Amino acid sequence: MPASQPDAEPVLQVRDLRVEFPLRRQRKTLKAVNGVSFDVHRGETFGVIGESGSGKTTLGRTLVGLIAPNGGQLLQGGTDPATLSRRALREHRRDFQIMFQDPNAALNPRMRIIDSVMEPLEIGRQGDRTSNREAALQAMARVGLPPEFAQRYPHQLSGGQKQRVIIARTLTLKPRLIVCDEVVAALDVSIRGEVLNLFADLQREYGLTYVFITHDLSVVSHVSDRIAVMYLGCLMELGPADTLAEQPLHPYTQALLSAEPIALPLSMRRQAQIELKGEIPSPVDPPSGCAFRTRCLHATERCAAQRPAWEERRPGHWVACHHPLA
Ligand SMILES: Nc1ncnc2c1ncn2[C@@H]1O[C@H](COP(=O)(O)OP(=O)(O)O)[C@@H](O)[C@H]1O
Ligand SMILES: [Mg+2]
Repeated sequence: MPASQPDAEPVLQVRDLRVEFPLRRQRKTLKAVNGVSFDVHRGETFGVIGESGSGKTTLGRTLVGLIAPNGGQLLQGGTDPATLSRRALREHRRDFQIMFQDPNAALNPRMRIIDSVMEPLEIGRQGDRTSNREAALQAMARVGLPPEFAQRYPHQLSGGQKQRVIIARTLTLKPRLIVCDEVVAALDVSIRGEVLNLFADLQREYGLTYVFITHDLSVVSHVSDRIAVMYLGCLMELGPADTLAEQPLHPYTQALLSAEPIALPLSMRRQAQIELKGEIPSPVDPPSGCAFRTRCLHATERCAAQRPAWEERRPGHWVACHHPLA
């Protein structure tokens, strides 16, 4: 991965971002994203790791404008999308794309591959059909899909090939940022590496920025420049991928790392297993103070009374914890 450029204007600036879902029957609100702050720099891969239900997908959808936040601020390339006219917003949104785990859900089974790849260009009413077709074929070639795939249907392709179709389709829009939400989770382990390498190649070639969301620490550790650790809608820790793995500051990060089996690089493996006590609490009734305190070995009264501040304890290494490990 290329070095990120922290001095350039961040692609995303996120401040105290909140997303809530009203649960009408229970007359409560579910805080799926509960006040998170971070920047994503141009050209980097920003990993987001967390257990299922921690709010990763909701965060990703919000970052690309599919969900409007309930609070806080989101700047995309320095622009607050809420200030744009409808027309300007349509243009602006093309720059911020998202891909999901299941390529089947994103592909119309009755459409030929070429038509699926061209679709975003046709919807955007860009260019004529011939030039769009040409652009689509080029994008397909770039992701390793030979031209004879153009006339096929999704059911004739493997999972990895379908995910390549989605990548090609996204590339035709020439986005600045792609949120990749569990994009290799559904793929056979044997082809994950290939697809991850393709993402890396495309990043170098097109200067892309990625937010790489996964519950799988071995995936995120291989591709990310920086990693953010999410728990119950909150960020627990954020830092350079190697420092975070070797010297985690948050007990939750430490527990995640210790739970990971052999797939991890040597530097990330821990001797001692630290077990996570109990279940993840419900985001409808999250614990007071620190969200993690009910499962934390280091928790004290203070952790129940007061939400820990989001602090930069080492350069570029942030943590929200009353009792950090260093
Ligand atoms: N549209 C929705 N309505 C109500 N609750 C939702 C909705 N989408 C997600 N949630 C809830 O928000 C929480 C976070 O979900 P999600 O963002 O999918 O987490 P993750 O991707 O980390 O598994 C979960 O408790 C989930 O049930
Ligand atoms: Mg998810």
